[in-house]
Amino acid sequence: MTFNDSNMEQLTREVAEVSSSEALDALEQRELGRSGRLTLELKALKDISDLSARRQRGQELNERKHRLLAAINGRRQELGTQAEAALAQTEALDITAPGAPVQVGHAHPVTLVTRELVAISRDLGFMAIDGPEVESEFYNFTALNIPARHPARDMWSTFWLKNYQDLLLRTHTSPMQARHLQKNKPPLRIVVAGRTYRYEATDRTHEAQFSQLEGLMVDKRVTVAEFKAVIETLLARLFKTDQLAVRLRPSYFPFVEPGFEVDMGCVFCKQKGCEVCKRTGWIEMMGAGLVHPQVFRAVGYDPEDWQGFAFGLGIERVAMLKYNIRDMRVFLSGDVRLTQQF
Ligand code: DAH
Repeated sequence: MTFNDSNMEQLTREVAEVSSSEALDALEQRELGRSGRLTLELKALKDISDLSARRQRGQELNERKHRLLAAINGRRQELGTQAEAALAQTEALDITAPGAPVQVGHAHPVTLVTRELVAISRDLGFMAIDGPEVESEFYNFTALNIPARHPARDMWSTFWLKNYQDLLLRTHTSPMQARHLQKNKPPLRIVVAGRTYRYEATDRTHEAQFSQLEGLMVDKRVTVAEFKAVIETLLARLFKTDQLAVRLRPSYFPFVEPGFEVDMGCVFCKQKGCEVCKRTGWIEMMGAGLVHPQVFRAVGYDPEDWQGFAFGLGIERVAMLKYNIRDMRVFLSGDVRLTQQF
């Protein structure tokens, strides 16, 4: 085949209609590659013996070659622009569009109240320490003047560990009183915040797992008046008020004598009587008392030489009051709609 004008026209149309750069490359190869049709014709020039005929044919072929190349390159540019436009459509990045919101974590309300209680206690000179949640019968009961088979044990329905004689899930944070006294010399002031467990049915105000803050102060001489001052300050700061009443009612806990139940004047109605305080003006906050001589003895102290006060309060209960939560079971529900509010 030789390159005449109609041939050239057809080729130019073909170039214009090619719709991909791959097809265009193939076409270029077919015509202008090493053994492309036009290339072969150019090579064949040398076989034309007549000089002027060869020259004329050479000029013609060269001109066609350049026209074809120009057409191919023009089309290549067009295809490139189209491809870019398509990319701009599909891969456009709008740097002014607002980003996807970052998921932030939230502290659990029990964590928040715990931190607050610990911070206030530190300000009052109490050192925060931790203790084991798996506890021995000795620290959880015996050292706290609750001997085996004593009816006082019934105050704490206990999860005992299978296959272990005397291990249990601590039913309160009080065992840390005994542990700390064993290893440290008074005067001392500590708080212990942590999880506690009771083998009990759950309802709006009871959970099998909950948290307590334990407090202990031991010195040569410690009075109920000092305890009252400390607890008034702690509760006033916790509920962010400077007018806070505290009242002690006699009560029984084996590890204190005297023992009391501590009521706080209702901070929600200024003691006028409301739903929260059940119209009594008072809210029960914690158990407390002066450390029982038997507790001192159990950990090697002479109760004639030392005195102390101790208290234990439920952290979930505080969180429920502070944040107006009606059902204790939401704390362990795992529902993020709870934590997202804090
Ligand atoms: N451990 C008690 C309980 O869980 C609470 C308590 C009462 C703690 C009196 C004390 C205390 O430190 O003195 O029911």
